[in-house]
Amino acid sequence: MRTHRAILIAAALTAVTTAAWAQMKPEDAIKARQSVMRVIALNVGPMGAMVKGDVAFDAGVFATNAARAASVSTMALEAYFQEGTTSDDSRAMEEIWFNRDDFESRLEDLRDNLARLSEIAAGGDEAAMKDQFGEVGKVCKGCHDEYREDE
Ligand code: HEC
Repeated sequence: MRTHRAILIAAALTAVTTAAWAQMKPEDAIKARQSVMRVIALNVGPMGAMVKGDVAFDAGVFATNAARAASVSTMALEAYFQEGTTSDDSRAMEEIWFNRDDFESRLEDLRDNLARLSEIAAGGDEAAMKDQFGEVGKVCKGCHDEYREDE
């Protein structure tokens, strides 16, 4: 019974979200995804500087940034990358719409790897944090190589 109710709620939520996506103007979707990417990068940048040794390693700052990046990555990026929103104001490539499953699985990889980074960072093991940061970087780069136009 409880499972049944959960499925109904999930179905209702899906319907609501799908409707919201359909109503989003392309220029709003572009701004939204670029903003999300930028906020993720604002949090990832300082972690990268610590991993490279450009600034002193601070496990507390690292953990805060990892948690923020993980949280922001759960925003509705699938919706913001809706079909047909290639534009001169965007570096998103048309390949995204042709390879939707691959693109969405990369978004999942991003979320999984950032959540894992946040979890590891909460544990404070510096070497493990650096290793997992490397995994996150591969996910960013992998997707940008395939689906983002060079500047
Ligand atoms: C699933 C694919 C994907 C993943 C994973 C991904 N990105 Fe992006 N990113 C894009 C695409 C596509 C754009 C271009 C968006 C546009 O211009 O409409 C972009 C744009 C950006 C931008 C430029 C935003 C702007 O102001 O225009 C930054 C910065 C960025 N990504 C950082 C990151 C970082 C850091 C990570 C990893 C933590 C990451 N991205 C992971 C696909 C991805």
